[in-house]
Amino acid sequence: IPSIMDADVTGKRLLVRADLNVPMENGRITDATRIARFAGGMRPLLDRGARLVILTHFGRPEGGSVDPLYSVDALRPALSRALGVGVGFAEPCIGKTAEAQARALRTGQALLCENLRFHAGETANDRAFAMALARLGDIYVNDAFSCAHRAHASTEAIARLLPAFAGPLMQEELTALATALDAPKRPSVAIVGGSKVSTKIAVLKNLVARVDHVIVGGGMANTFLYADGAPMGKSLHEADQVATVGEIRALARDAGCELHLPGDVVAACDFAPNARYDIVPADACPEDAMILDAGPRALARFQSLLADCNTILWNGPLGAFEMQPFDQSTILLAQTAADLTRQGLAVSVAGGGDTVAALNAADVAHDFTYVSSAGGAFLEWLEGRTLPGVAALQGAAEAA
Ligand code: 3PG
Repeated sequence: IPSIMDADVTGKRLLVRADLNVPMENGRITDATRIARFAGGMRPLLDRGARLVILTHFGRPEGGSVDPLYSVDALRPALSRALGVGVGFAEPCIGKTAEAQARALRTGQALLCENLRFHAGETANDRAFAMALARLGDIYVNDAFSCAHRAHASTEAIARLLPAFAGPLMQEELTALATALDAPKRPSVAIVGGSKVSTKIAVLKNLVARVDHVIVGGGMANTFLYADGAPMGKSLHEADQVATVGEIRALARDAGCELHLPGDVVAACDFAPNARYDIVPADACPEDAMILDAGPRALARFQSLLADCNTILWNGPLGAFEMQPFDQSTILLAQTAADLTRQGLAVSVAGGGDTVAALNAADVAHDFTYVSSAGGAFLEWLEGRTLPGVAALQGAAEAA
């Protein structure tokens, strides 16, 4: 996929699909990582004389209608600070006024367009809406890997209407993910946690075929233990996923991938901060208790497994990491992955909302080789699915 960093951008209007869908509470941005990373990539383009017309969605406004709660105008001050230039605002994102504003942009200036999802044509991947957007720029740049799993007008249809390029953040994500899964330095290990097997069936089925080891954690591990006949007490597990567990195990066997489950676990009667807990064998959860984390022996085994691997892929916490003391195995294993990475002994790639929160809690995100800014797109990529936004860029490159 051609990168915009290699293109001649001087004086050109770049129509950039960003993902500025940041979390916000009471009108305040609670995590501006996406804005910072996007702006960091755009800065050199502005310096080279590009003009930026920035497209993004924000939240999931109802049925393609205007909802002031989701106006991207609220993001403008943070975006402007991060880019280091004043940012104009086009509202609505298509039409004569927006076109005139885009035409009036001077070299090194930026314009932010109102929420794409205020128009039903966006999520419908409507060609007419994409054509209206295309009138705002000379070149299309997709810099939103985290939206690439959506076949929307601004990520899919539009790539056929203008010369299309990958933005710096998109390029960075694709390179990191390919390093971790398409051509990993072996042996490779994937840590897959989270509460439910049912939400990660496709992820597990794809990963067992592509990596050498999979560590299963969180509530998902409980379902594997349950399938082996372990008593669950009050533990979260999915009794209806026993057959799925069998399928995943068979696929892993055929592919020569080893599955690792905790041999001991942290069990508590209450899911409450600093609740009393016991360390018990994984097949001996008391009737009135629930499994909330992997135990210390399991952790030590996982740590030494990581030390034997050259590539570490992480998605999902190992325990109920949002509540102390059930965050311990996630935090300590994350620190091991970070140490190995710092020493140059492993490449580590992580992604998914909970995972990033856990790595931040362990204060190790900065030590990982790469932390993806994507949630849903990262998961679909782990499932081995074709992401429409990436496929559209590839299609445009082949057609050019
Ligand atoms: C995300 O936050 O994962 C992306 O911005 C995609 O948002 P969506 O799930 O509303 O399409």
